[in-house]
Amino acid sequence: DAAIGHYLRSHIRTVPDWPSAGVQFRDITPLLSNPRVFRVLIDQFVHRYFDLKPDAIAGLDARGFIIGSVLAYELNIGFIPIRKKGKLPFTTVEETYELEYGSATVEMHTDAVRPGERVVLIDDLIATGGTMGAGAKLLQRLGAEVVECGAIVDLPELGGSAQLRAAGLPLFTLVDFA
Ligand code: PRP
Ligand code: HPA
Repeated sequence: DAAIGHYLRSHIRTVPDWPSAGVQFRDITPLLSNPRVFRVLIDQFVHRYFDLKPDAIAGLDARGFIIGSVLAYELNIGFIPIRKKGKLPFTTVEETYELEYGSATVEMHTDAVRPGERVVLIDDLIATGGTMGAGAKLLQRLGAEVVECGAIVDLPELGGSAQLRAAGLPLFTLVDFA
């Protein structure tokens, strides 16, 4: 809903030239520190996914954990962490994706999902879409169905959300920043 989108947007801070010159960094920490805003934020996802009844929520390291774990708790389902490489102790599957300079790798435990499980994948923000796309691939490689990808913020001009949708991943976001 547009009013809630504006309300949430007003609590996202833009930090110019961070982490490098020319970048307008969208900082979600003010959404988290205000308890009323945080509740409104989480409730948007709870209402969205209550009827969809996913089997689990997967969250992307690190900011996807903040939203994803609270959402899983509220929906009474389990939480699956998808982590940056080198953090998970058991057997893992990994997926590498390209960044502007270099690449990044995310990992998930091989027993995190069972074939046919319906999973919602959560992160805070979609920029190039690389992180979300890699997370979705991991879940799909283990036979899970990614019923939707959810994020607070989309940066549509970077093309990530369009690419994810073109790859057949349903996507739900609350706030767009040009
Ligand atoms: C940020 C953000 C997303 C990702 C979005 O995470 O939280 O996970 O980048 O970018 P993309 O769409 O181009 O992949 P970051 O790697 O900064 O890690 P953090 O959550 O640990 O801060
Ligand atoms: N804000 C937060 N995280 C990000 C951004 C941003 O603008 N771009 C890539 N990751």
